[in-house]
Amino acid sequence: MTAPSIDQLRREFLAALERAKGEQDLQELRDRYLGRKRGAVVALLKSISAAPVEQRPHLGRQANELKQDVEHRLAMKLALINEGLDDNNADDVTLPGRDVLLGHRHPLTIIREQIEAIFSGLGFEILQGPEAEDDYHNFEALNMPPEHPARDMQDTFYLEESLPASAGAGPPARPATLLRTHTSGMQIRYMETHEPPIRIIAPGLVYRRDNPDLTHSPMFQQVEGLLVGENVTMADLKGTLELFLRQLFEPDTRVMFRPSFFPYTEPSAEVFITCVFCHGGGCPICKKTGWLEILGSGMVHPAVFEAVGYDTERYSGWAFGLGIDRVAILKYRVEDIRLFYDNDLRLLEQFPY
Ligand code: DAH
Repeated sequence: MTAPSIDQLRREFLAALERAKGEQDLQELRDRYLGRKRGAVVALLKSISAAPVEQRPHLGRQANELKQDVEHRLAMKLALINEGLDDNNADDVTLPGRDVLLGHRHPLTIIREQIEAIFSGLGFEILQGPEAEDDYHNFEALNMPPEHPARDMQDTFYLEESLPASAGAGPPARPATLLRTHTSGMQIRYMETHEPPIRIIAPGLVYRRDNPDLTHSPMFQQVEGLLVGENVTMADLKGTLELFLRQLFEPDTRVMFRPSFFPYTEPSAEVFITCVFCHGGGCPICKKTGWLEILGSGMVHPAVFEAVGYDTERYSGWAFGLGIDRVAILKYRVEDIRLFYDNDLRLLEQFPY
């Protein structure tokens, strides 16, 4: 008995195993190779006693390895057949590897990471916060008291109603909890636990009771920005946002600030960029204005600083809120916001890894 015949036996066994289709084939193979009376591997082991003494340990080891290998492979194949996963090539290490299918990054992830990279470069910290938020952080501390029209019930998904104070007066025993309608509550959360100077952005999901259509989804993504310090002016706001928007869109993007209103900023500004479709010439998308609204911003309202206990004489700051989906729609020319949440591979595969 010489080593090549062990190899030959192994090759024959592997070829037969590959052809095996069902449990019966496997049983026949087991008999043929491992059967006590006529099994080839068993016969091999027995024949070792006839080999020269010095070769016996080596041959014995090889034959035992073969026996274990045959047992292992028969068991594996049986398991695969039973699982309905029979794959004749499962253990053939000589086959070329199969392509690993890499996932693609979601377009909203790509945009979010671009935004994060720009603000990281400016020394901003990136925060995450709770999507289930309380009434205080989402509304009240942002200068939207209970009766304020800006907190229209229709817009909000409430999780828990507020519990009134036991005596029927004073602050509620438990404020309402809701799915945050914007990321602005992160301004409050951060200022409550930190002193200026502050430079943060807070990206994340937000929720509103909107009926889905081309431009509305009940869940979408925003990024909040906040900068607070001494002598912070509206010029800082304008300069930073202009730099940011030119990096995010095109270096020659023009940026326009128009007066607006938000309860938590004074003065407030809506920010527009030159239309990415017509470059300012006027088209149906920008309604012939040449401008697209891109974010809301303003100087932090003193009432907001008071809510977090900041000295309003000493500190000033600016904030902004931007819809990530809107940026992705404009940059990738996706016509329907709902596509971002459908998980349809035909869309997702168009984006890089
Ligand atoms: N929270 C606003 C929204 O959801 C966006 C926004 C506007 C955020 C002005 C701000 C801001 O921080 O200063 O539409």
